[in-house]
Amino acid sequence: MRKGILSIGAAAAALTLGLTACGGESGDTSAESSGAPSAAAGDAKPGKIGVILPDSKSSARWETADRKYLQEAFDAAGVQSDIQNAQGDKTAFQTIADQMITNGATVLMIVNLDSGTGKAVLDKAKSQGVATIDYDRLTLGGSASYYVSFDNTAVGKLQGEGLVKCLTDKKADKPIIAELNGSPTDNNATLFKQGYDGVLQPKYDSGDYKKGPDQSVPDWDNTQAGTIFEQMLTQEPKIAGVLAANDGLGNAAISVLKKQKLNGKVPVTGQDATVQGLQNILAGDQCMTVYKAIKKEADAAAQLAVSLAKGEQPQASGTVKDTEGNRDVPSVLLEPQAIFFDNVKDVVADGFVSKDELCTGDFADKCTEAGIS
Ligand code: BGC
Repeated sequence: MRKGILSIGAAAAALTLGLTACGGESGDTSAESSGAPSAAAGDAKPGKIGVILPDSKSSARWETADRKYLQEAFDAAGVQSDIQNAQGDKTAFQTIADQMITNGATVLMIVNLDSGTGKAVLDKAKSQGVATIDYDRLTLGGSASYYVSFDNTAVGKLQGEGLVKCLTDKKADKPIIAELNGSPTDNNATLFKQGYDGVLQPKYDSGDYKKGPDQSVPDWDNTQAGTIFEQMLTQEPKIAGVLAANDGLGNAAISVLKKQKLNGKVPVTGQDATVQGLQNILAGDQCMTVYKAIKKEADAAAQLAVSLAKGEQPQASGTVKDTEGNRDVPSVLLEPQAIFFDNVKDVVADGFVSKDELCTGDFADKCTEAGIS
């Protein structure tokens, strides 16, 4: 485990311990230095929490996992909430934020569509005394009081190592690698790439692997990813491994590989442990995915939000450097897990996907083979 990064259990425990009201104390805690506005100090009734999710197409996670787990956590805490989805529209994002604040939100949690528009939303909220949380994506140069996510460089490292493992299993000789990166406007995509290039670059340098096409997919758009990968494969028909930054991009590459009957021969990575990604792994078309226990991420963020809504100043377990704003943002970072055929069952056991939704039709036999009971 890397220094300064907490495991899921440790982070959750640290957060639990830190979530006592600490207003009035003079200790130099990261929460105090963040200048988190005190949402409803002194009020018996907690304020309302607004959440803006980014879209429903770049990954299935936002609507199937994040919304569900956040809603459950707010309901369990008995705090009023409003979770909306900007559907990839930056103007709508701002309008939703304004409406939430007008309707009494005292805490705003956002997954930005890019740092520039995210910053505008955060700054405006802060100027109106609304406490803010960056959820999953850090807004560079932004003003969020807290940041809750996974160790995203570690996510990329698992993807790079996963691809190496699958290529080694296939005894690939000097494979040509294509990189299908996430959105250039998403700081996470930058971190994922740092993680996997940290693994792949030495292989390119030593001549073990050959660097092939390397392109970002605007807004993580799965349809565009298909077009981009189609061009990649036309230019370089000998692509032997694909580092795709999430399951949606991976599936786009797999669909193109299928047309050339190359699926299963060319390992493809992913992320998010979506039903589609896991089924692609069971089918042998995808090499691996990265499971991020979104329930833990949602619980950690909800715990902070609820505390802020009660007018408290919660302490986060660590900090993350916003290099653009030159600011240490109080943060909770969780650990991701690599998933291959043999441990798809871990994702089911964790309750993230159900056997019923995963093991449909032809996948039933594969599920049995993978030990999913
Ligand atoms: C998230 C990923 C997701 C991607 C596309 C990233 O910021 O961390 O989990 O697949 O956005 O929505």
